[in-house]
Amino acid sequence: MKRFRFIAALALALTVSLSLSAKPKIRIIATGGTIAGVSATSASSAYTAGQVGIQTLIDAVPQILQLADISGEQLVNIGSQDMNDEVWLKLAKRINQLLNEEGYDGVVITHGTDTMEETAYFLNLTVKSDKPVILAGSMRPSNAISADGPANLYNAVAAAVSPACKGMGVLCCMNNQLLDAKTVIKTHTIDCDTFEGGPSGIIGYIYNGEAFILQTPNNKHTINSEFDVTKLDRLPKVGIVYGYANCSPLPMQAFVDARFDGIVLAGVGDGNFYKDVFEVAEKAQASGIQIVRSSRCPTGPTCLNSEVDDAKYHFVAALNLNPQKARVLLMLALTKTHDWQEIQKFFMEY
Ligand code: DGL
Repeated sequence: MKRFRFIAALALALTVSLSLSAKPKIRIIATGGTIAGVSATSASSAYTAGQVGIQTLIDAVPQILQLADISGEQLVNIGSQDMNDEVWLKLAKRINQLLNEEGYDGVVITHGTDTMEETAYFLNLTVKSDKPVILAGSMRPSNAISADGPANLYNAVAAAVSPACKGMGVLCCMNNQLLDAKTVIKTHTIDCDTFEGGPSGIIGYIYNGEAFILQTPNNKHTINSEFDVTKLDRLPKVGIVYGYANCSPLPMQAFVDARFDGIVLAGVGDGNFYKDVFEVAEKAQASGIQIVRSSRCPTGPTCLNSEVDDAKYHFVAALNLNPQKARVLLMLALTKTHDWQEIQKFFMEY
């Protein structure tokens, strides 16, 4: 009996020590972008995105192996200007599988910066886990002088293994900063410091391999989201129309003729649009196409029932979502309802 107790105690001690020394399991999903881009020479700004594979990205930053048990997979290898619904659905389903069925402790996604904010927000509404999901990219190609990709990838893994990032929703990690999916926005065409967090600012920062959180998102996301893509193999069609003085109604009319499910207006000021466009929008809404008013202004909310009587026309006001994110939420909202008041509620909560 004593022998049995000794063996059991030894096995327990071994298990505990192994579990304590085991590093977090982190999966890196590569989708392309400049972080995987290659330029003709290290000094050239001309480059092609999505050229380098996931293993090369991992091999370029061996220090991440000290942070976590790292493995990677290549989902696609594209410039993120070519990001699309099919990749979004595959990505969300794969992340949920990794975190909820395959025992991973976090996921890092390498992604182009052009549409990173849209992918981040889509995942914020469709990932069914509170484990860290971190997007990272770069503004300089992988072989550039002072390439920013390796440091961004290292910091993203550091964030993914950080307990402080659990339950924060999907985050972007760029230039030592952590930005939340709802407010992150690309603000500059070429600066490494291009990402900002809008009026509410950044969520936190990564310093010396550690995540420091400054504030927590107050909108619904991930495990509190009611949107589920598990059974979806397509998303509703939603387009965006840009507003300007003397704006032509033709783009809006084209979406109506193509029977889009929803149309977001990047309106002028507080989500206003030219009278000819307004007429088309009113008819579109009456025909069952949901109109959402957002704004081309970089900051500030698009307010409900302001200059436009939304209640009268059954339009939805985007509130704090810019046009590209209002489109993401409207697409997912239309998978659940076509009721404009229900959709407006989603814009208040997410
Ligand atoms: N083609 C752009 C993209 O993949 C390059 C921008 C970048 O990744 O920094 O988003």
